[in-house]
Amino acid sequence: MKEPITAIIIGAGDRGGDTYANYALRFPEELKVVAVAEPIKERLEIMKKKHNLQSKRCYSSWEDILREEKLADVSIIATQDQMHVEPSILAMKKGYDVLLEKPMAVTIEDCKQLVEVSEETGKLLQICHVLRYAPFFSQLKEIIESGRIGKIVNISWRENVSYFHYAHSYIRGHWHNREKASPMILAKSCHDMDLLFWLIRSQARMISSFCSQTHFGKKNQPEGAPNRCLDNCPISETCLYYAPRLYIDLLPLLHLYKKGGSFSENLFSNLVLKYPKLTKIPPFKKITEYTGWPISTISKDLSYEGRIKALQETNYGKCVYAVTDHNTVDHQVVNIEFENEVTATFTMHGFSHEEGRTLRIDGTKGTIEGEFLFSKQKITVFDTITCTEEILRDDKLQMEHGGGDDKLMQAFLKNIRKIGKKDVLTTARNALESHLMAFAADTSRLENRIIEMREIR
Ligand SMILES: NC(=O)c1ccc[n+]([C@@H]2O[C@H](COP(=O)([O-])OP(=O)(O)OC[C@H]3O[C@@H](n4cnc5c(N)ncnc54)[C@H](O)[C@@H]3O)[C@@H](O)[C@H]2O)c1
Repeated sequence: MKEPITAIIIGAGDRGGDTYANYALRFPEELKVVAVAEPIKERLEIMKKKHNLQSKRCYSSWEDILREEKLADVSIIATQDQMHVEPSILAMKKGYDVLLEKPMAVTIEDCKQLVEVSEETGKLLQICHVLRYAPFFSQLKEIIESGRIGKIVNISWRENVSYFHYAHSYIRGHWHNREKASPMILAKSCHDMDLLFWLIRSQARMISSFCSQTHFGKKNQPEGAPNRCLDNCPISETCLYYAPRLYIDLLPLLHLYKKGGSFSENLFSNLVLKYPKLTKIPPFKKITEYTGWPISTISKDLSYEGRIKALQETNYGKCVYAVTDHNTVDHQVVNIEFENEVTATFTMHGFSHEEGRTLRIDGTKGTIEGEFLFSKQKITVFDTITCTEEILRDDKLQMEHGGGDDKLMQAFLKNIRKIGKKDVLTTARNALESHLMAFAADTSRLENRIIEMREIR
């Protein structure tokens, strides 16, 4: 029997601790976590218990773990956006192959440096562009490559971020400030830039972008609304963003449940069976069983009392209009002309009733329409010659990025076991283009001009 690949985890938060390290618990014959670096004690303790780690193999920072001799085959790096570069470079220089979260880095120079170090050391640096591995997008790629819609001419692509996800991550959460994390187009939409580049099979030539931060901020804070939702907000019943609505009552998540889709079914079936008459009033408030995303982010203590405390003390309980250093854009459009003359328009906005991507790909012989939503995934192909349409996929979205998280890990482990690296879909080199596109869009909107990609290549 083959031995599992051994891994160290750097940053055991939502992605490192839950998504990637949990893969080792589900598939112990494939992956084994042997050490972890994480400054938050509770998270470190959880990792120690779950993965049965020796105390000496639990470190409080990436510097400490990487000071040791090489401890495992691979290093999985899932620290926050601005802490990707140094640990990745050091890990590769120590001899680790690296799985690194996106965005790979937050400056052009750092992205390029990561590619260089990977190529100089011969170490694999695979970037977590998980959507390339999701069956929905693999199928889209296959349809395009089959020639069924002819040559692609234009793509319209929308990333509809749900209003509560936007509020959770991009107003109250880690990514609320571009200087502290990264610009929205990089943090969230580098996946979309990457998919466009991959599907169109060409580098971008010119990019322009507009966006703004329109709705949030003091200017729109409703009259009488306090800076914290729990301080007797007079509009608690009507405000979409009233913090207990999400973190205590779980209302947006229950709406997802009602719409169907595996996300809500997996997570809520037990709750709903237990509490068939859930409403936005107690006793629903007593429900503490659900502790997944986005609740998991707000506190280490996810009991009812713990959540209330988090809403009293952290950004997660702030009025969305009163987070003073929030500067993430809430809508953005990007126009792209590719070297092969395909054009694409990309729209991101943070006000969607439902999370997901919707897209239309027009070719010389047909059109593809796609919906990749929390409640469903659907692909329809229209054939212009025969005037027919065929639904090639219409099913429920698998959670974990439409199944992409697991498939990324499977691909990574397969790549590690092999000597050649030719079939690595998301090497740092491949991921560089999406990052450059995001930087170009960001520069375009800041400087109000069209960016020629050769300026920044
Ligand atoms: N691929 C995707 O689709 C996807 C989805 C979500 C997030 N991400 C990216 O994954 C990364 C992690 O996101 P997250 O949501 O897990 O964040 P997180 O904050 O939950 O996890 C980051 C962890 O790094 C730890 N950390 C801080 N300083 C450290 C140090 N010196 N040494 C080691 N660990 C340290 C933090 O304590 C935290 O537990 C981010 O870059 C994010 O943009 C990618």
